[in-house]
Amino acid sequence: SKRHKVALIGSGNWGTTVGKLMAENTSEHPNIFEKDVQMWVYEETVEVDGNPQKLTEVINSKHENVKYLPKIKLPTNLIANPSLVDTVKDATILVFNLPHEFIGNICKQIKGHISPYARGISCIKGVTVTDDKIELISEYIGEHLNIYCGALSGANIASEIANEMWCETTIAYNTPPCDLHAVNSNGHANGNGQPVEEHRDSRGQIIKTPLVPVPQDYPELSHEALRSLFQRPYFTVSMVSDVVGVSLGGALKNIVALACGFVEGNGWNMTAKTAVMRRGMLEIIQFAREFYPETVQEKTLWEESAGWGDMIVSCTSARNWRYSKMAVERGVSIQEIERTELNGQKLQGISTSREVSSFLRARGVEDKYPLFKAVEGILDQTIKLEDIPHLFRKAQ
Ligand code: NAD
Ligand code: 13P
Repeated sequence: SKRHKVALIGSGNWGTTVGKLMAENTSEHPNIFEKDVQMWVYEETVEVDGNPQKLTEVINSKHENVKYLPKIKLPTNLIANPSLVDTVKDATILVFNLPHEFIGNICKQIKGHISPYARGISCIKGVTVTDDKIELISEYIGEHLNIYCGALSGANIASEIANEMWCETTIAYNTPPCDLHAVNSNGHANGNGQPVEEHRDSRGQIIKTPLVPVPQDYPELSHEALRSLFQRPYFTVSMVSDVVGVSLGGALKNIVALACGFVEGNGWNMTAKTAVMRRGMLEIIQFAREFYPETVQEKTLWEESAGWGDMIVSCTSARNWRYSKMAVERGVSIQEIERTELNGQKLQGISTSREVSSFLRARGVEDKYPLFKAVEGILDQTIKLEDIPHLFRKAQ
């Protein structure tokens, strides 16, 4: 029988880390996956020993991503590829892992070049907003490529996982009925590999475009099979079905992390930060209830790594928090800090704050989300940090 071919789209700090752990797993599960993992690299020139070299060539010769994940040895079966189309060719599992602002362009470039029965996992934290419409990244990918796409998100600091320090994550994936094999250990109905006429989007609405089933001579993409692609002794995977909760937790906490950095940079301490985190989680839950009432499972936000877990780590040790704090301490804009301090890495909170605020404004409900509104105002210098307690009091 056939084996799944895995392609990774993205090779930044988290992208390369996920590439490392997936390549370790494809070697260990030769009955499910082909060993080699192709990793698309946005090509650039890097300086190595005083010589300019292509990043893909450095990764493939030194087995190290010297720019985005330095000092971490990568498996030799993780192969850097500068061609997006070649990376995704014949892959049955597409793992998307790059800053969310680039996903539109990526989908345009690979449309028509992927296997019709590919399945996706998005490790991207963000949302896409057009006017008064918001979409989860996994949903955007699914819709633009006509595939099913799940989401991986959790309290995950790339450099720690790359150094094999233990942590947890959450993967949300609903194996499409047409992909279920005849005898299923979970007792699910037999999908028989027949195209389904309809499946549902993140709001529970029926999508009419049929999915092309994964042929039955491939191993079934059950929760266990997917777990075996991502779980490592140092990386515990919890499998759930709530793509909305997992995706919103990961995207919206970046706004809260910025607020925590602002507050701490201003000289306030843990108690102020805790107030911001508590309010932030309330606004995330309110957002999920308001815009995804039929589908979100709130327990994901309370119980999973992708919920409170990610909120805590993001507000105490991740990049959006760290660099927004630095911006306030130095009295410069956070965009300036992103340009000068991050060596090409991206802060997702800045664009997510703007996107979510413009969506809430278009719906006329921005005042119901005082923390989200305050973060945008602070970024635009229309609201002062000192006003935060007052804004919260007004919203009581
Ligand atoms: P990163 O911050 O390291 O971003 C840099 C990447 O963007 C590089 O690979 C660069 O080549 C690429 N890039 C730059 N310009 C580009 C363009 N025009 N088109 C395409 N790619 C371009 O990225 P990351 O840390 O791998 O983050 C990817 C996603 O994972 C984000 O949504 C992030 O929120 C999420 N995430 C990150 C971490 C972490 O600790 N780094 C942990 C969990 C989740
Ligand atoms: P940053 O992008 O702020 O580093 O967040 C990483 C993350 O998502 C932690 O779970």
